[in-house]
Amino acid sequence: MTNIAIFASGSGSNAENIFHYFNNNEAITINCIVTNNKDAGIINRAKRLEIPYFFISNKDFRNGKSICDLMKSRNIDFIVLAGFLALIPANLIKEYPNKIINIHPALLPNYGGKGMYGDNVHKAVIENQENESGITIHYVNEKYDEGKIILQAHCPVLKTDTYDKLAQRIHKLEHTYFPICIKQLLTN
Ligand code: GRF
Repeated sequence: MTNIAIFASGSGSNAENIFHYFNNNEAITINCIVTNNKDAGIINRAKRLEIPYFFISNKDFRNGKSICDLMKSRNIDFIVLAGFLALIPANLIKEYPNKIINIHPALLPNYGGKGMYGDNVHKAVIENQENESGITIHYVNEKYDEGKIILQAHCPVLKTDTYDKLAQRIHKLEHTYFPICIKQLLTN
């Protein structure tokens, strides 16, 4: 059995989508959720879906020891960041080489880096009058959004787009491609 931990700081729609995708999979399971935000929507989703969840404060997370210990104690093989807003500590990256991936709501290397998350990304894309955006799934290293790219998918940016409309289009791409990509990485 391959055990996945999903890290999320926000609503957690990707986490829930991934959970449903692997629900009947006998080889891959969502073992737990980790959050650094006590008010995150992901917590209610985890309760409803009966997925074990753990809160780690940013301070403890930065240090790296508690999260490494938690991952070990739950026999985690693979870590998926789905809207997780904290830098991954070096010791965790060392423990999980090429086994931590992230999804970013734009076409990296553009519109990435510190502070580039959520609506900030879509706002910048619209303000720069881009005519396309998309998603990037990539390995995680010690810098925000700079790990090796695994997959990108594109969508148009319309002249009439608001941040919300673009975010919805991007979420659809994320929900389509993220679980498939995880499955491919874990079965190849
Ligand atoms: C997604 O757009 C993802 O690309 C970004 O954070 C957002 C999380 O959305 N990293 P949700 O919490 O899964 O709905």
